[in-house]
Amino acid sequence: MSPLLLLSLILGSLATPSLSISEDKEDFIQETCKKTRYFALCNSSLRSDPRSSNADLKGLVWISIEILHEKVSDTLFFIIGLYKNTRDPELSRFYGSCIEDYGTSVRRLLPEAVKALGSKDYATAKNDATAVTSYIDACDQQFAEKTPFSDRNIIVHDLSLVASTIIGLLG
Ligand SMILES: *[C@@H]1O[C@H](CO)[C@@H](O)[C@H](O)[C@H]1NC(C)=O
Repeated sequence: MSPLLLLSLILGSLATPSLSISEDKEDFIQETCKKTRYFALCNSSLRSDPRSSNADLKGLVWISIEILHEKVSDTLFFIIGLYKNTRDPELSRFYGSCIEDYGTSVRRLLPEAVKALGSKDYATAKNDATAVTSYIDACDQQFAEKTPFSDRNIIVHDLSLVASTIIGLLG
């Protein structure tokens, strides 16, 4: 089974009553996000998924990884589009290296994090999420000026730190 299929199955099971806890969920999301460096982003992105209102900490971790995966994939396709359309050899090289950084995150790091979470190997999952941050930083730091995806890099960077921080709360 592919890690992403596994992820969607696990997320699908979040709606089951066994995973819901009795305390106020709105406060629980807030409380969790306060422990991250990016409260507003954490709060708004987790709440963009309706399952978060019913999720425990583990559920929030899965949701944060899914949101991160979505943003990383979107940005990867966006950069591939730029890469195909540039004739500037330097930009072409920079974009190409970003495609590798984002590609590594989508193909290796995030599926590995999902697998590690499934086997309660939280340290590995956290390392993978943190590694995504480094890869996206490496992509971003090549450019002296703002790129058409600088803002996306920032969001992916921040979301990966949110995910790794929440994973760290699992123990
Ligand atoms: C958290 O996000 C929700 C929905 O986006 C928003 O209504 C709420 O005000 C936010 N909470 C805080 C404390 O910013």
